[in-house]
Amino acid sequence: MSRGAFIPAIAASLVMPGMVFADASTGSIAASIPYFESFDELRDRFGKELMYISFIFLILVTYWVGKRHNEVLAKSTMAVMLPLFRANFARVGDNGAELAIDAPHEYIIYLTGRRHVATVHGLIKMRPRQDLIRTIFTFLSTPVQDTCTLNVTMNPGEYSDGVFAVVPKTTGISVRAKFYDLTTFTKASNQKSLDASLITLTESNELTEAILPLISDKLNKAAQWLDYFVVSDQPMYKPETVSTEPYAKRISLSFRLPNARYTREILPLVEALVACLDGLPRDCHVTAVTKSKIIKAREEASKELDKKAQAERARELEEKRVREKREYEKNLSPEAQRKLAVKEEKRALKKRQKMVTKKA
Ligand SMILES: *[C@@H]1O[C@H](CO)[C@@H](O)[C@H](O)[C@H]1NC(C)=O
Repeated sequence: MSRGAFIPAIAASLVMPGMVFADASTGSIAASIPYFESFDELRDRFGKELMYISFIFLILVTYWVGKRHNEVLAKSTMAVMLPLFRANFARVGDNGAELAIDAPHEYIIYLTGRRHVATVHGLIKMRPRQDLIRTIFTFLSTPVQDTCTLNVTMNPGEYSDGVFAVVPKTTGISVRAKFYDLTTFTKASNQKSLDASLITLTESNELTEAILPLISDKLNKAAQWLDYFVVSDQPMYKPETVSTEPYAKRISLSFRLPNARYTREILPLVEALVACLDGLPRDCHVTAVTKSKIIKAREEASKELDKKAQAERARELEEKRVREKREYEKNLSPEAQRKLAVKEEKRALKKRQKMVTKKA
């Protein structure tokens, strides 16, 4: 049986028992189910079991159909990108598989072997269609979307530092708030060359002028699918401590997926990404003035991080001190504990008296 025919077959077998029982109640094929006069009788005897079995069956069917749906979507997305990947990277995928499955709704992309680029890590993450329970829950809470994210780690030092992004106007604010580098270093601005639905978040006009021409036409063509396009030398998520090493330079692209039949629509976004691989090292070199501004912004950001880290350390030390004190008191003999309690009472009393005299 072909796979295409299998889904209707399962659907039919789901419906079938109901039909058989319905017929049984009218008596037409009652002979084939001799033990029960009617569907009602059968339900009375096996109601719970029937419910459990149909539920398990539904879970299995959901798993099979959902997994298959995601597989088709992931593979057709990859098929659209693959010619570009093959043309640009010596190695596509790992261990022979161009697209590695991580979960029925998560597929991993790995590329390497190209000038200016260290590695590319990608993830196609879709709705957990294979999981009935999660599907119901995500349906009730925030809807999850099918997305593809590509992280390019560029070779260090081949173009200017700086943070620049193109995001949709509608979600731009929340994207900016979500990512540390965008929040810390960029400001939003409108651009004539961009589709009306898109804006830039940028650290400097010079960066915008260098990067936007490489990508604007391509992003405009698929603006409706873009989540973000980020060029950055800073971490996406706030680091815990200040790093002495420079952070990896990266380009991050994230977009939503159209239906499997229309995946071609996302191609211009990936083309924009590929255009940056040579384009940034060639075109993105800011003047000395801008460069020193960018350096200064990073120094201030790391000071800020340092302050936060110190406050955090102080808080942890204080917590540890209180914990140790409590531990110590717990281990004292009852006699010593009583003495300690008396002593603390006295101290508290003194304090109160002092306050009273001060007031008076
Ligand atoms: C891309 O990079 C970000 C930040 O480093 C990380 O959180 C995310 O998981 C990465 N995504 C992929 C697909 O590697």
